Order: sequence, then structure tokens, then C-alpha cells
Amino acid sequence: MNHWLRTLPKAELHLHIEGTLEPEQMLELAERNRVSLPYRNVDEVRAAYEFEDLQSFLNLYSQGMTVLHTAEDFHDLARSYFHRAHADGVAHIELSFDPQAHLSRGVEFEAQFEGLNRAMRDAERELGMSSALIMSFLRDQDAEQALDVLERAEPWYERIAAIGLDSAERGNPPEKFRAVFERARALGLPRTAHAGEEGPSAYITSALDTLDVCRIDHGVRCLEDADLVARLRERQTPLTVCPLSNVCLHVVDRLTDHPLPQLLEAGLNVNLNSDDPAYFGGGMMANFSACEQAFGWDRAVFRKLAANAVEAAFMPADRRARLLSDIADC
Ligand code: HPA
Ligand code: ZN
Repeated sequence: MNHWLRTLPKAELHLHIEGTLEPEQMLELAERNRVSLPYRNVDEVRAAYEFEDLQSFLNLYSQGMTVLHTAEDFHDLARSYFHRAHADGVAHIELSFDPQAHLSRGVEFEAQFEGLNRAMRDAERELGMSSALIMSFLRDQDAEQALDVLERAEPWYERIAAIGLDSAERGNPPEKFRAVFERARALGLPRTAHAGEEGPSAYITSALDTLDVCRIDHGVRCLEDADLVARLRERQTPLTVCPLSNVCLHVVDRLTDHPLPQLLEAGLNVNLNSDDPAYFGGGMMANFSACEQAFGWDRAVFRKLAANAVEAAFMPADRRARLLSDIADC
């Protein structure tokens, strides 16, 4: 089954590129850029990966990304992940990045976009992988700052497939960003948002109502509200679920307690993702195989999950048709 899962063409729609920073690369980039970290070696970095909740992870994640300075750093980070994902049978990746977390350290848009775009072009040419970029806003920061960042990104709008919303969810409801998302809509930019990971199901409803998102990142807490489930089912709103992330951040105690089987049973449009693979125990194959172990799903279920991701992806129609046909034939 593991071999077959690897050959299944997969699209990853929920992936924070800063969350792909493996301890080895963190230390290497820290040395290259003379950034001091509180770790002397890879084991010390890994020892810090015991999270109590989303915030404790975000603290480490924010610290790790301080090693990223130049376009080359962003390029090398994304390039490494493209290669690992390719080995996992991933055919398409939508990379989220957090520009505010870099701009606030004096790392300009130019370096971020140039480095990421170069890695995306290389992956297409060398590995035949397609990709898209999602520019995410930090929901624990001011909405005014997010709006300003959106305006400043103007020279790069053509390179952005969508905008997103991530970081500390509780106490930062979607409606805080209504004006930012309205502006993105006016600019013709699609929208997605993290909701219902740690935050309540009401945040999913608000993301649909006030941010007009085309998909929901996580969304696992939707089961708390039957009307919301009916709405998500009717519209077939994609939920980008991240099983191992939910275990690591204690959204669920064990993978066997994860609501994925109920989400599928409810007829919801679910797909599987790794979120922050360097921090949460692995990439797409780790997530797919852990689900196979926990839920005993057969090939038909995994084909459906893989096809859901491709159908929800930002990609040209011919690419979508090709991948859907490859999944059906797998
Ligand atoms: N949730 C919220 N913000 C994030 C995450 C996450 O899982 N990963 C990176 N930023
Ligand atoms: Zn996420």
C-alpha cells in the first residue's frame, strides 16, 4: 500500500514554506547568515519540537524562520522541499508564505518572491511539478498592517494565486480582516483562510460569510455545527485537512480520534496535507500512510482524496485534467 500511495499523484494545498525548514537546513542557513540560535546541533533543535498547542509551535516556527534573509535562502528552502515532495509522489504544491514575518525583519518582498519563484520554475523544469503561491497574513497582527502589505505587494500580484490567513487563531476571528479580504476580492485575488483548527466552528462560518473564501484551511471543527456541515456539503467547499499537524498541536489526542472519517461520511470535500512537515513528523507520504494505518482506507478513498485536492487546486485546466486522469488510472 505504501508503494501504491507513493505512486498516487498528489496535490498539496496547505503547506507553509517556512514550516519546511528542517533542523539541518536551519543550522546551515544560520551559519551562512550569521544568525545566532539557541541550539548547538540538530538534536537540540529536534528536542524543542514538543508542542503544547498552536501558540507554542508558532513561537518556534517564528524563531526558525529568522535564518531566512536572501533570495537564495528562500530559493534553497523551497527547492529542498520540492525535491522531498517529488520523492513522495507530489505533483503540485501550493506554497503559503508569511511576508509580514520577513518584512518585519527587514527582508524585502523582492527577496521573498524572487527566491520562491525561482524554485517554482526550477521544480517545473527539473521535476515536472506545478505550483502556486499563496500570500498569507498573520491574524495576530493588525488588519491595517495586512492591508498595507497587500497594497505593497502590487508589483507581484500576477505571481500570487490567492491570499490566506494564518497564525494564532483564537481571539483573532476572520471578520477582523474583512477589509483586507474585500480589497483582495476587488483586485481579483482568490481567498482562503485557516479556520476551525483551534478556533470554534463559528470562525469557519465567519470566514465564509465575511471573507468570501473559496476554501477553508483545516476546518476540522465544523462538525460542531450541523447547519455549517450542511452548508459545506452543499457548496462542496474544500477543507485542506492536516492530520499529523492536528495530532502534534493537540487538536486531537491521537490520529485514531481524528474526525476525518466523520468528515468523509458527512460528504464533505476533504483533502490531505502536511501543513509544516519539518515540525509535524513528515510530508505527504507520512500523512497518507499514517491515515492508512489509523483508518484502514482502501485505494478508492485515497483516489477520492487525491482527486479532491486536484479539483480544488489553482492550476490550468489541462494540468487538472491530466492529473485527474492519472489518479483514475493509478
Ligand atoms: N496554523 C496556523 N498558522 C500556521 C500554521 C498552522 O497550522 N502553520 C503555520 N502557520
Ligand atoms: Zn496551516
